[in-house]
Amino acid sequence: MSTIAVQPAATEAPILDVLAERWSTRIFDPAAAIDEAALASALEAARWAPSASNTQPWRFVVARRGTEAHAQILASLMGFNQSWAADAAALVVFASSASVDGKPLPWAAYDTGQAAAHFTVQAHASGLHTHQMGGFDRDAIAQAFGFGEDLVAVTVMAVGALGDIESAPEALRERELAPRVRRPIAESLIANA
Ligand SMILES: Cc1cc2nc3c(=O)[nH]c(=O)nc-3n(C[C@H](O)[C@H](O)[C@H](O)COP(=O)(O)O)c2cc1C
Repeated sequence: MSTIAVQPAATEAPILDVLAERWSTRIFDPAAAIDEAALASALEAARWAPSASNTQPWRFVVARRGTEAHAQILASLMGFNQSWAADAAALVVFASSASVDGKPLPWAAYDTGQAAAHFTVQAHASGLHTHQMGGFDRDAIAQAFGFGEDLVAVTVMAVGALGDIESAPEALRERELAPRVRRPIAESLIANA
């Protein structure tokens, strides 16, 4: 197994190691089963995310490789995503409930994103790798898992152990080893009074 790791983020100010070292891999180990304890911790971190009025609008579909659910989620992925995400030990759908008891939840997608962010940080701290995807068929997911009208799939996350970068196809290796970039913080600051 390759020990090549993507360079940590070149940060403008110190950040937690887990944040600097997280990246979205496309190279998962196709033989490794999901680390159940790490997955449980990642879900627990998502559970403890903040949400507007503590409404917790997130819902998850967790599917381990080899199950019908994993195959259904994989089939919903678009184009290139399907080729690499198949190796992930688990695919997790992050869905968001648009209302509770008929009351709209304006921050539902935002809160679900926070739950996903908590999940990724805990997953990486626990030795898992993650890659979120927006490129999937929402209707196919809704149909496969019987979502009601209020429930919308926001992202699908590939989760698992890192695969062997050295023996991965060239197209994946190139993307994996490309420099990780962000615009400078100054360009995101509308004001910093
Ligand atoms: C909501 C969301 C949707 C994304 N959709 C895809 C996708 O469909 N396919 C893909 O390869 N990467 C996808 N990504 C991954 C981003 O491209 C990646 O996070 C970004 O380039 C930054 O790279 P890093 O996560 O390695 O820092 C998505 C990320 C997020 C948060």
